[in-house]
Amino acid sequence: MRRLLLCLLLAVMPVGAVHAAGASGSYMSANVDPFDKESLQRGASYFVNYCMACHEANMMRYNRIGRDLDISEDMVQEYLIFTPDTEVHDTMTNAMSNADAEDWFGAPAPDLTLYARAHGADRLFTFLNSFYRDSSQPWGVNNLVVSGVSMPHVLEHLQGLPEPVHEERNGEVVVTGLEVPDDAAGILSAAEYRAMTRDLTNFLDYVAEPVKAERQRLGVRVIIFLLVFFGIAYLLKREYWKDVH
Ligand code: HEC
Repeated sequence: MRRLLLCLLLAVMPVGAVHAAGASGSYMSANVDPFDKESLQRGASYFVNYCMACHEANMMRYNRIGRDLDISEDMVQEYLIFTPDTEVHDTMTNAMSNADAEDWFGAPAPDLTLYARAHGADRLFTFLNSFYRDSSQPWGVNNLVVSGVSMPHVLEHLQGLPEPVHEERNGEVVVTGLEVPDDAAGILSAAEYRAMTRDLTNFLDYVAEPVKAERQRLGVRVIIFLLVFFGIAYLLKREYWKDVH
């Protein structure tokens, strides 16, 4: 009985352990939800509109997104594909080479297919919410997550341009928060911008692991099966052994 319980525990444990390792205390929580298809659809549209000029998701195909997120191939072609000569079965690439990006921005724009898997969705979400004005930087902006960032704040017209809030700690001036001043506001409110960047993060988290929703759905079924099977096995064991004891 005890051994069976231990096996069950071991079967369930790694799921929790991996989850805990991905979360970082210092990042905002993106609260990604692979089952929220509307959020993922909005995120897909934000990604192709605001990010794909520089970034690719070169391990993801457009038609897979269509299939997973219930977007018809015609709609994918019309609303998600902006590069010429690109078909729905192609991967999400753009025309910018790493050398071009280095020339223009000082650093290549990394492929974002696996970013959320490698660094965590919370880091991505926090990164998108951490741009602030810094006139010493080439683009006039810096980022709390990636100090000296080479990426311009491409969502500035939506969020506005936050100013850093400074505080002195142990004789050092540190940035403790960000605030968008009224004269640098964007067209979205703070809550709307957060919701928008959450959709974008949700989408890139899905791209990093398209089977996540299926895996979680299956995981629940497997655990239910194990529990039911445990009950049956236990009753069977009692039946077999009842004449022996
Ligand atoms: C104008 C080009 C451009 C656009 C558009 C752009 N980026 Fe970037 N991005 C860059 C460059 C260049 C870097 C490399 C920055 C560095 O290494 O300092 C970068 C880096 C990143 C990184 C890596 C940060 C890290 O951990 O080092 C992420 C994540 C990212 N971009 C997400 C996005 C998202 C999401 C969008 C769409 C909202 C976007 N980018 C739009 C140019 C761009």
